[in-house]
Amino acid sequence: MKYFLLTGTSRGLGEALAEQLIHPEHHLICLSRTMNKALISKDPQMDYLEIDLNEVDQIALVMEQAFSRIDRTNAEGIYLINNAAVVTPLSRIEQGNTEQFKQNLTVNLLAPIVMTSTFIRLSEPYHAEKRVLNISSSSAKNLLPGMSVYSASKAGLDVFSKGVGAEQGEGADAVKVVSVWPGMIDTALQTEARNMDKETFASADIFQMVKDRGMLASPADVATKLIKLLLGDHFIQGTVVEI
Ligand SMILES: NC(=O)c1ccc[n+]([C@@H]2O[C@H](COP(=O)([O-])OP(=O)(O)OC[C@H]3O[C@@H](n4cnc5c(N)ncnc54)[C@H](OP(=O)(O)O)[C@@H]3O)[C@@H](O)[C@H]2O)c1
Repeated sequence: MKYFLLTGTSRGLGEALAEQLIHPEHHLICLSRTMNKALISKDPQMDYLEIDLNEVDQIALVMEQAFSRIDRTNAEGIYLINNAAVVTPLSRIEQGNTEQFKQNLTVNLLAPIVMTSTFIRLSEPYHAEKRVLNISSSSAKNLLPGMSVYSASKAGLDVFSKGVGAEQGEGADAVKVVSVWPGMIDTALQTEARNMDKETFASADIFQMVKDRGMLASPADVATKLIKLLLGDHFIQGTVVEI
């Protein structure tokens, strides 16, 4: 049995990943703030645990619950996908507020750090393939006005993935960690960015333009590529991959 722990499965890319991972030999453990009844109804063996990733102190407890569902006698692979994120604040930095900065860096960077730390610790007794896929963004490198906090969170996630990859190394029981830039996807995150007023978010026009020109990939197509990466031979320890 392969076990998949995924965050942010209420919608968007996380939902598409979960849908495509449903399989009799896969046990999905969704870690999500918002219930997704349609998703749950598609997979009788799915576990769906509630967590608000702003509450980082709760992560260890929820991860312990998640690992209690993993059977040591049949686990051939255990995979964590840190997918949940927020794009806000979308404004010049002097117009943002501390609460927005805190929430962005908590959900996008601190939570994946705590999730990865807990995953490595709790998966230690399991002799299975162990992998962490951190969903990052080319925003880590391609900077747009009004997105400095999001970019900083994703750049931090990339550096974190490289650092933990170096720490884990190539031993038989190492947890492999990869950061991925999935490209632009037609999700609520994009809608939020293009619907911002131009006065506040100078880059809103760019998001509108990519939508108008049909440059957004479907969540399903991106999920297919990500699953191929996660389960394939090109999951190279400590790398940042653009798909
Ligand atoms: N869309 C793009 O063009 C694009 C491009 C590059 C990278 N990405 C990355 O792809 C990933 C998925 O993004 P998406 O486009 O699918 O975005 P999305 O549609 O906005 O979905 C974001 C997910 O994150 C969850 N989330 C947000 N705050 C949370 C919190 N405090 N606790 C728990 N879950 C929380 C949301 O859950 P709720 O329903 O509870 O809010 C939702 O399930 C993100 O890491 C994003 O940075 C997206």
